[in-house]
Formats: sequence, structure tokens, C-alpha cells
Amino acid sequence: MADAAPIGVFDSGVGGLSVLHEIRARLPRESLIYLADCGHVPYGEKTPEYIRARCRAIAEFLLARGAKALVVACNTATAAAAADLREHYPQLPIVAMEPAVKPAAEATRSGVVGVLATTGTLKSARFAALLDRFANDVRVITQPCPGLVERIELGDLDGPQTRELLQGYVAPLLAEGCDTLILGCTHYPFLRPLLRELVPADVSLIDTGAAVARQLERLLQVRGILAEGQAKKTELWTSGAVEGFERVLPVLWRAGEAVSFFPD
Ligand code: DGL
Repeated sequence: MADAAPIGVFDSGVGGLSVLHEIRARLPRESLIYLADCGHVPYGEKTPEYIRARCRAIAEFLLARGAKALVVACNTATAAAAADLREHYPQLPIVAMEPAVKPAAEATRSGVVGVLATTGTLKSARFAALLDRFANDVRVITQPCPGLVERIELGDLDGPQTRELLQGYVAPLLAEGCDTLILGCTHYPFLRPLLRELVPADVSLIDTGAAVARQLERLLQVRGILAEGQAKKTELWTSGAVEGFERVLPVLWRAGEAVSFFPD
């Protein structure tokens, strides 16, 4: 049975747009509502309780707008709140995301994998469990990246400050022999071009945006709630300054789309 209801996608800010690109490309017939919680970004340094409360408020908003499924397009929110959301909305299809430890452990040739992520993700029990499960035969070196999300929120993907921060985070991982870097925060895929400049060509960069879009499609298919018909719209919301979000959209999403204010 086709279902024209929208899919709700959210992140602490603009990072989840990297996932939204993948969802839009894979599922053109779906209506999408994206909420950037820019009024509360970054999540990476916040407590799990704070993030859980934000995720509940956002989920309520998206459900009130008729969402048939949720995508937690944020590794930090997944670590803090995916279990809570699943418990609270047991009937709702929810796709969440975590750093790509399994594919990276399979891909590495040097046996050393680096993880770039937020402090919140790296400190979480969920991440520890992920390592326990999939990283027994490789060395995993974690690198929290404070400040990086804020640069991307400003749409600064290759300016001197972003470059210096990223260089400082990546250099120790390369020095340890990492040949595979996990982009464990949905903001970081926007830094791929800069990363390609900063790391040797044989270092792989792995993120999970495309896998999340595939998983979402599978889930909707199994439930029989994929949309049909022609290509649909994407609705954009932010809890931060609308003008700020609109300013970075041409860089991170596409030009000329309207943004609404989520007053929370
Ligand atoms: N984009 C988010 C993630 O995937 C969180 C960034 C932040 O707000 O610190 O982890």
C-alpha cells in the first residue's frame, strides 16, 4: 500500500543534510521534512539527558506533521537517544546511524582504523559496544573533533580555520598508520574534498549516509509504505536563525529553498 506521508529527518544542525542528499537521491518519490536543531547545536558536548529531551521534542513535532518514519541523521543523537525513541514509539519505523566500524574493519589493510566523531559519540556505551562487536582484529584510534561542527554550521568547508582544525585532528591518526578513516559525524562528509587534500590518496574515507538511505528504503518496503507517483518536495525547518540556515543552503543543500522556524 503506497503511503504519501512524509519522512522526518533530523540532526543537531546542518550535518544531516549529508544524509538527506542520499535519501533524496534514493527515494525521489518521498516527501521529506528535515529539521536542523541549530538552536541547540552542537550536541557533541551536551549530556545524553539533554539530547534525549531534544530528540523527543523533535520527534513529537515531526509526528505532528504526519511523519510515517524517522531518520536520526546524527551519530551523537543515535548514541544518546535512539534506544529511548524506539522504546517510546514502538510502532514507528526509525532509522538511526552509528560510525561505520564494521565496514572499516573489513576494509583496512594496515589494520589501523581512525574514527573522527564527536566527544558524545566516542564516550557512549553504544560506541563501546560497536567496537566490542566489530573491531577485535584491528586497532581503532578515536579522535574527538571539538570545533569542527561549528565551522561546518557556518558553511566554512575549506577556510583557514577549518583547515587548521582538521589537519590537527587527522595528523595523529595518519602518524599511527591509519589507512581508513571513519567519518563518524554527519557533518564531516561535507569535508571530504578538504580531507582528500589532507590525507594520502590511498587512505579510505567511510561514512554511512548511503547505507542509511538503503536501510530506510528496506524498512518502508517491508512495511508497504513506500510513496509512489512523481518526485516530491523537501521541507526544511530550523530551531536556529532562519537567515543563517538559508545562507549555508546553497553550499550544503541547494539554492533557493525556503526554511521555516521551529520555535523550540
Ligand atoms: N552531526 C552530528 C553527528 O552525527 C552531531 C554534531 C554535533 O552537534 O556535535 O554526530
